Amino acid sequence: MYNYRKVTDDLYWVGGNDRRLALFENIHPLYHGVSYNAYVLLDKKTVLIDTADWAVGQQYFENINAVLDGRNLDVLVINHVEPDHAALIEEVLLRWPKVKIITTRKAVTILKQFGFPIDIDKVDMVDEGDTRSFGKHTFVFVKAEMVHWPEAMVSYDTTNGVLFSADAFGTFRSLDGKLFSDEYDFRGEWIDDARRYLTNIVGKYGPPVQHLLAKASGLDIKFICPLHGPVWRDPMDIAYILDKYVHWATYEPEEKGVMIVYGSMYGHTENAAEVLAHKLCERGITNTRMYDASSTHVSYLISDIFKYSHLVLACVTYNLGIFPPVKDFIHDMQALNVQNRTVAIMENGSWAIRSGSLIKEEISKMKRMRILDEGVTMASSLQSQNMPDLDALADAIAADLKK
Ligand code: FEO
Repeated sequence: MYNYRKVTDDLYWVGGNDRRLALFENIHPLYHGVSYNAYVLLDKKTVLIDTADWAVGQQYFENINAVLDGRNLDVLVINHVEPDHAALIEEVLLRWPKVKIITTRKAVTILKQFGFPIDIDKVDMVDEGDTRSFGKHTFVFVKAEMVHWPEAMVSYDTTNGVLFSADAFGTFRSLDGKLFSDEYDFRGEWIDDARRYLTNIVGKYGPPVQHLLAKASGLDIKFICPLHGPVWRDPMDIAYILDKYVHWATYEPEEKGVMIVYGSMYGHTENAAEVLAHKLCERGITNTRMYDASSTHVSYLISDIFKYSHLVLACVTYNLGIFPPVKDFIHDMQALNVQNRTVAIMENGSWAIRSGSLIKEEISKMKRMRILDEGVTMASSLQSQNMPDLDALADAIAADLKK
């Protein structure tokens, strides 16, 4: 049965939800599912904006047919060709062979790479600032290169201020019947999923996101229709998510706070991290989060490093190197271009203690990172002789946060 939702008088959400997918992009765990959004505009011409993943194909076509209600489909706008949005293009072409595709030249190249039998004569290739009118509605197309792939564009309906934002402003989590962000407790329940989505998927591409935000600031945006997650229509919500995006894209911490990540084999490094956390709390620093790198998927660690200003890495030495789960986290931070954080290091080992110096080396390769002089080196476990260093570290972090 069809299950679409109205966005405006003549615009409909025709996507679907996938609560069975375990790993998004086969790497990021999903515990609350994900939605694949697509939209149909009923104007003089009928316009389908993006397709979806195979997983929601049946729902997607039932929705489109119900919204079209016997009308033909005239236009397919493709904003992004990653297969979670492009998988159904071929099926759309089979069902509506005369549909005109509007997309970028780069998108056509990538679709061909994926083996889509695109007839170039059926493609209307658009460039930055090009417009197309469908009757009452006129779209302007804006390139969104590297948000998240090089072919991406966003489409802005100049008639009613709807921005079809592709991956931008999307979030993990399936929709619960509710479509709009103001129908959810977004700031309480959803924001962590929104951050984990954006930072892990597009975190590396802060400058292109900044570029897109600058272009978007010149538009009178009334609705944001992303490819995942809720639609934005409340001006306060739109301002809220735009502000978050500015932080994530510029690598500015959202909050002054401490993220403690430990890599511990038998619990002794973990104990040292716990003691530090208590000492921070005793100094009035309560905005803290602690994670075991071994049991936390790295996508959650990446999400929180985009949130907090300070990072403590407490790490045992393993095979004369950095404990692998902590090393993975550092490599992911490097890959995603994380920068502008203050880092403190606590190292452990029963002989040849090297994790601290190696972590310092890795962090030093990153941009605008500050490593605190204060740190802790312990042999096997935290001992009374380590306490002055631990206190000094807690003092230094607390003083920094209270600036
Ligand atoms: Fe949801 Fe870059 O695709």
